[in-house]
Amino acid sequence: MTDSEILSMNSLSEKEYYELHLQNLTPLNLKIDVDLFLNEIEMYQEFFQQWGDVHKEFARYALPLVNLDGKLIDDDPACWPLDRWNFVEKYPHYKNKDWTDEHVQDWKDYFKELSIDDIVNELYFKKHTPLYKKLTSVSQKLNILDNHLLRTCILKWDYLGHFKKHIDTLHPTKWLRLWGTTNPKGMVLRYEDGGSMIPEINIEAGRLYLHDSIRPHEALAFDDGVYQFFIALDLESIPIIKELL
Ligand SMILES: [Fe+2]
Repeated sequence: MTDSEILSMNSLSEKEYYELHLQNLTPLNLKIDVDLFLNEIEMYQEFFQQWGDVHKEFARYALPLVNLDGKLIDDDPACWPLDRWNFVEKYPHYKNKDWTDEHVQDWKDYFKELSIDDIVNELYFKKHTPLYKKLTSVSQKLNILDNHLLRTCILKWDYLGHFKKHIDTLHPTKWLRLWGTTNPKGMVLRYEDGGSMIPEINIEAGRLYLHDSIRPHEALAFDDGVYQFFIALDLESIPIIKELL
């Protein structure tokens, strides 16, 4: 398949997907300077917001770099799990509410009839926030992908911050996901393999990886101040990504 054919399509077949995703985390020739980032991010702590509206007992925060309209707002959907954001849009009375039997039942029922194309998904998020250019340790590395960024955040977790096992998209997907962390010794990322959850090893701090977010995965921090680079890209970025493999 030629690059121009890739550009003309709006989703990636399974075969094409695995021509890029050579492993769970495929390293890219893109590395963020962690010391520079850690210095810089200290200036922007006030812009971190709680990740979504549930499980606030766990320290999970996000700072939006690419969101819906480029404006910094409280309760930014870019800083929510989008399944939860869409659910709360439909059932606003459950926002910030504990899990009751009815809440759980409506949550389960919601997913039975869900189509990923009919809800707010990564493709809706295309506008850089002012924080993107200010955070030069990130934006200067990502500049070759500037025109292709979809929903992008810096995640910040403290001890026990985690994402339970999930997938982010399905075949044929309409976006790619990059991931990286400042502190691979302070967190674990596991992918499902043969029914078990297997931790990734040899993750390099600051390195950006093409992340196979179709394979079930989970993550957990066991240190404070663990940052993650949470970056979605449109499919037109594929020729650039190929150069970075
Ligand atoms: Fe994920």
